[in-house]
Amino acid sequence: MLRVDGLSTGYGHVQVLWDLSLNVEEGEFVALIGANSAGKTTLLKTISGVMRPWSGTVTFQGKRIDTMHPNEIVDLGLSHIPESRKLFTDMSVKENLEMGAYPRRTWKDRANTMRWVFELFPRLEERKNQLARTLSGGEQQMLAMGRGLMSRPKMVLIDEPSNGLAPIVVAEVFQILKSLHAEGITILLVEQNVRQTLQVADRAYVIENGRLVLQGACSFLQANEHVKKAYLAL
Ligand SMILES: Nc1ncnc2c1ncn2[C@@H]1O[C@H](COP(=O)(O)OP(=O)(O)OP(=O)(O)O)[C@@H](O)[C@H]1O
Ligand SMILES: [Mg+2]
Repeated sequence: MLRVDGLSTGYGHVQVLWDLSLNVEEGEFVALIGANSAGKTTLLKTISGVMRPWSGTVTFQGKRIDTMHPNEIVDLGLSHIPESRKLFTDMSVKENLEMGAYPRRTWKDRANTMRWVFELFPRLEERKNQLARTLSGGEQQMLAMGRGLMSRPKMVLIDEPSNGLAPIVVAEVFQILKSLHAEGITILLVEQNVRQTLQVADRAYVIENGRLVLQGACSFLQANEHVKKAYLAL
């Protein structure tokens, strides 16, 4: 479904990603693991068209997307749920969700889509008229995910959804990721919560200093000595 091939990019003259290649099959739940500043967010931004590759290609369902605008990429069914949520804080929950349905393909059916999102996140329905900034951290993360789903994506890129949340809320976020996967949505998840991520994903890639260093099934990575030492504190 998604293929990244030989991707390099950076900011100004500073290179951040080096010849990175990965692929995600339809229906898969793939994770991307790496320490602070490894380049995880930069990779997601390049896939979703917010940044351009210096070299290499990004293909989604057989179509080159690395020259497309972010809105065109969302229109194809690839949605990016960004790091630190990026909500419209002075708009209500409902209005934030509506903003997510902007592709023409999904705008007409937004009421039905919102019902689906409210089934996934009942708390958002209870709070639908509240301003986004009055929500708790966990609820804001749910709103960011709900907004990303309003474009009816086939695949989602999710950047550190558990960041800054209390353990009980983190568990809830991982539960929701599991249900999205069960609904058939393809997932590429960036996480620093490595232990829980390796329990829910099918496969993972490990990136360090902008380079791919390791990849494999989560069961393989859980047993890998480097992963154990560097990411699981074992
Ligand atoms: N807008 C920017 N301008 C210049 N450099 C940037 C910018 N954003 C990120 N960088 C640099 O690029 C490198 C990779 O950053 P990136 O945000 O992709 O890492 P990350 O793996 O997502 O880290 P984190 O886990 O902290 O979110 C870092 O060295 C960072 O300082
Ligand atoms: Mg990041």
